[in-house]
Amino acid sequence: MQVGFVQFEPIFGEKKLNFERIKELILTRQADLWVLPELFATGYQFKSQEEMRGLAEPASGGATFQFLQQLCIDSAFHIVAGFTECDEGACYNSSMLIGPDGLVGVYRKVHLFADERQLFSPGNLGFPVFDIGSAKVGMMICFDWLFPEAARSLALGGADIIAHPVNLVLPFCQDAMKTRCLENGLFAITANRIGTEHRTESSLTFTGRSQIVDPSGKRLIRIGEKISGVQVVSIDPMRARDKMVTEHNDRLADRRPEQYR
Ligand code: ACM
Repeated sequence: MQVGFVQFEPIFGEKKLNFERIKELILTRQADLWVLPELFATGYQFKSQEEMRGLAEPASGGATFQFLQQLCIDSAFHIVAGFTECDEGACYNSSMLIGPDGLVGVYRKVHLFADERQLFSPGNLGFPVFDIGSAKVGMMICFDWLFPEAARSLALGGADIIAHPVNLVLPFCQDAMKTRCLENGLFAITANRIGTEHRTESSLTFTGRSQIVDPSGKRLIRIGEKISGVQVVSIDPMRARDKMVTEHNDRLADRRPEQYR
């Protein structure tokens, strides 16, 4: 199975231009599963809830869904991408998994970062896992990396691959994800953005270095801090079904939940 990510610099509020840029980049390589950054179509730093709501969309039927679905139909792949979701009056920092047959599933960011807490409702769908045939895929978004429970929930749900759209500003996640993969024995595709947004009093610089990590914690591929581009690697997702670390130790079965707080 070929899996990849796109790293680029979204232009705030310019969905159409961001769609064009993604299309240009993604069509340079072939993959079965792509991951795009968090909030890839809108940009990250909303000035207000009103501004965010003006750019939010329902999971299916919105411009972002339609753009992504057409890509999936044309090129027969699956894609995970971050978007601003509105549903029954509430807005979430979400990601969607889409394939050639349409929407497969949605994840709503559970652990909101910094100013996101004033903008979005916290995710309320847990950490679902979706079977796309070639692999079982779960999603987390950016700051969820800090909470081992997120990746562990996906592992316990049977995920082979964590698709991880991000807009990282702290420098820790790329290394932390090596541990998340090792402790859960699964793959993670972390798709970050680049560039700086200075739309409020604080300026945010995003840290690039998107990467793919394997179940042993090995970084299979990474891209630089400041460049736009795509990377694709070949993986065997079935490696994530073997949780043994030694002949005698199973990462999931050896857990002792009754001893934990
Ligand atoms: C983040 O969660 N976007 C840092």
